[in-house]
Amino acid sequence: MHLTHPDITKTLVTAEQIRERIAELALEIDQAYQGKDILLIGVLKGAVPFMADLSRAMQIPTKQDWMAVSSYGSGTISSGVVRILKDLDTDVKDRNVLIVEDIIDSGLTLSWLTANLKAREAKSVEIVTLLRKPDAAKVAIDVRWVGFDIPNEFVVGYGLDFNENYRSLDGVGVLSPSVYS
Ligand code: PRP
Repeated sequence: MHLTHPDITKTLVTAEQIRERIAELALEIDQAYQGKDILLIGVLKGAVPFMADLSRAMQIPTKQDWMAVSSYGSGTISSGVVRILKDLDTDVKDRNVLIVEDIIDSGLTLSWLTANLKAREAKSVEIVTLLRKPDAAKVAIDVRWVGFDIPNEFVVGYGLDFNENYRSLDGVGVLSPSVYS
């Protein structure tokens, strides 16, 4: 079903498409970590729905933890310098870590986070992101699993917000410029 919210000009990914893609990703991730311990690390707040749906679609047992980070810089422009607002409760040393993200935009947040977790001596650090904007990339990051590559537009829904709104939409859509301009 396409999003019917008045502030959404175009639906990019429907709830059904997300569900189907998550089932595929869960299968691949299950296979990759078969017989291994895995710690899912969700990045607050955008990754909440994706973490909930992905982890429940997986068959292998997981442990879960959360980090909240904030990028220094003005407005929506990411600077690459990241501040930890909420750190992990878990020691990741010698753990297989899978970072669960809603979106990779410039890539600066995940580039920093990957290096941070490797510095804590995680055994392995991989990334699964629901969305990626290839045209917005400022740094190359090694992403093992991507749900959907999307155009470089302002998107909301399924965890993604503008001013904390729209996170609970069940699909992902393009926000009308009239809302933020
Ligand atoms: C978003 C998203 C990523 C980051 C991606 O989070 O969840 O963490 O931006 O951007 P980048 O690739 O350019 O670094 P945001 O800061 O909007 O916080 P939120 O998840 O709490 O909405």
